[in-house]
Parts: sequence; C-alpha cells; structure tokens
Amino acid sequence: MGKVIRWGILGSGHIAKKFAADLMLVKDARLVAVGSRSMVKATAFADAFPVDHQHDSYEALAADPEVDVIYIATPHSLHYENVLLCLQHGKAVLCEKPFALNSRQTRAMIELAREKKVFLMEALWSAFLPQYIKVQELLRAGKLGTVKSVLASFGFRPGTSPNARLYDPALGGGSLLDIGIYNVFMAMSVLGRPDVIEASMTPAATGVDEQCAVLFKYKDGAMAQLFSTFATDLATEADICGTAGRLKLTTRFFDTAARIEFYPGRLDTLEVIEVPKEEGFGYQYEARHVNECLQKGLTESPVRSLDDTLALMEVLDAIRQAAGIKYAADE
Ligand SMILES: NC(=O)c1ccc[n+]([C@@H]2O[C@H](COP(=O)([O-])OP(=O)(O)OC[C@H]3O[C@@H](n4cnc5c(N)ncnc54)[C@H](OP(=O)(O)O)[C@@H]3O)[C@@H](O)[C@H]2O)c1
Repeated sequence: MGKVIRWGILGSGHIAKKFAADLMLVKDARLVAVGSRSMVKATAFADAFPVDHQHDSYEALAADPEVDVIYIATPHSLHYENVLLCLQHGKAVLCEKPFALNSRQTRAMIELAREKKVFLMEALWSAFLPQYIKVQELLRAGKLGTVKSVLASFGFRPGTSPNARLYDPALGGGSLLDIGIYNVFMAMSVLGRPDVIEASMTPAATGVDEQCAVLFKYKDGAMAQLFSTFATDLATEADICGTAGRLKLTTRFFDTAARIEFYPGRLDTLEVIEVPKEEGFGYQYEARHVNECLQKGLTESPVRSLDDTLALMEVLDAIRQAAGIKYAADE
C-alpha cells in the first residue's frame, strides 16, 4: 500500500453520502474533509461520515492544505465552476457525471488541468465495474462476431413530488444528461463515436427533456437505439447484438446489480457469466482507480481519459442540438 490519499467531498447530497460510504472500502483512502454551502449541512454530513475538517464553503474546502483530491458531488450546472475552483488550488479532482453541461465547459476544465498538471477524471463509475470490464473482454475476444447494434434504456419515475434537481433547467435537469448519459456511454464504448446522430425529446412542464430518444448510425451499418425517461419505469437493460451472439446486461445495466447474459449463436442457449461481487454501492472501484493514479503520480486516467470525456460530451451536445435541448450555459 502506498501513502494514504486524503479525500474531500464537495457538496453533501445524495451521491456524496453513497460515495463517502464506499470510500471506506478503499484501503489507502481517507475521507478527511467535507465542503458544503452551509455549516449545518457540513456538520450533519460529518455526523454520518466523520471527517477532520468541516467547511461551510466550497472555497474553504478547495484551499484546505490537508486534502489531496476532491470529489465533486453538486448538480451538473455547478461542475464547471467547482472543478475550476479545485484545480486552481492544485487539488486533484474526480467530477460526477455529466462532467459539465457542454463541450465548451469541458474543454476549459481539461485545459486547466493539463496546464496545471493536476489529475482530473470524470466519475463515470460504470467504466470501473467488474461486469463492464468483463463485457469489454468478451467483445475483444470476438464472442459476438461483428457487433451490429446496441439497444439501451434507462427510465425511472422520480416520484410524485418531482425532484427539483432532475427537472430544474438551471441545474442542468432532464433525462439525457442525468440518466441517458449511461446509454450513450454504453453505445460509444461498444461501437465508438457515431457517424450520424438523430434524436428527439418530449419536454416536462419545466421545459427539460422528460423523455429522450436517440439513434446512432455508423458507416459500417451498425446502429444504436437509446431511450431515457423520467415518465415511466423502464427495464433499464442493455443489449449488445452481433453476428455471432448477443450479450444482455440485465436491469440497471450500468451498476453492480446487472447480470451478464450471453446468448451464443441463436437465442436458444443462455450462459450466465459471473463476475466477482463486493459489498458497497460500486463507487469504490472508481475511487480505487483514482488512488492508483495518484499513487503513480498520473495526471490523467489511462482508463477514462479526458479525450474520452470530451468525446462523450461532444456527442451529448450533438444529441441536444438534434433534440432541441438547451441550457443557459450554451448561450
Ligand atoms: N454516479 C451516480 O451513480 C450518480 C447518482 C446520482 C447522482 N449523480 C450525480 O451527482 C450529482 C449530484 O446529484 P445528487 O443526486 O447527489 O444531488 P443532490 O442530492 O441534490 O445533492 C447535490 C448537492 O449539491 C450541493 N448544491 C450546491 N448548489 C446547489 C443548488 N443550487 N441546488 C442544489 N444543490 C446544490 C448541495 O450540497 P450542499 O448544500 O452541502 O452544498 C446538495 O446537497 C449530479 O451531477 C448527478 O448527475 C451520480
């Protein structure tokens, strides 16, 4: 084990707490600080996840000399300014998905990290999960033959009183950036960057995309069909289909609940492919990877590169353009 990497968490909401719980599963990590907009919330967070330093502003957290790396857990619209703040203070950063609202912001964040030679990574946690890594292995081994299509859906109903963040345009609300991003990530990690992008959405009362349908086309004839929604509960599965078989990631394809089903040849044979399971929500895998990078003195992840992060954001921009999804930050 290398030195202990000292983590701070910026924002004290839903995902901040889950990440803090999983950080305890990372041997060389220690959660030492939290930064919140209010001391009341910082203290409440520290009651559940004890830390040495509670800060009542994000600036104070970013300036804390006892912190090596900061996990950004604020709504999408704040990622840009929060990441820049931390980088300016020389802190390594793991930033929640979506990395930013658009590729203009993403480019500026990447530029600053590279200029300052400070570690920066998008918290696309699915990329570090055992079943995702297994799927990549199976694809590389040619188990599906030529992949012709990816079908992915992610839908849930946030509840009777709409969660403000998910529906608030000022916070980057909408299904595409919040959950559709996992569909897009899955399609791109199997088929690469699409050559043609078509998309359409239906708005919620606040104007954000309540539902978003996306079609990717590739020059070699492959296609991806992706759907995200806050209106209904969907299967939230992913199918990767090739000339020699099909892989299905069962419900909640992007998280640790997913099971890999492999249908070699025709659809009458099923092999369930087991992957090792650990306790926790699954955020420990990405946190462990960040620690490994920092122990090695890397400024970029070899698994989730900043170029991949930018490519994903450029594709999300193109989907939004096609579907008519706009945020104030695009002006
Ligand atoms: N990887 C995943 O599985 C996953 C799951 C859920 C969410 N996420 C991502 O994590 C981010 C946060 O999502 P969440 O569900 O944790 O949101 P949340 O519960 O609303 O928490 C967001 C936190 O950000 C801070 N904040 C700063 N400015 C805010 C504002 N104007 N309005 C609301 N909160 C503000 C607040 O903390 P303080 O008041 O303490 O400053 C708040 O508790 C999103 O970008 C989302 O996409 C990822």
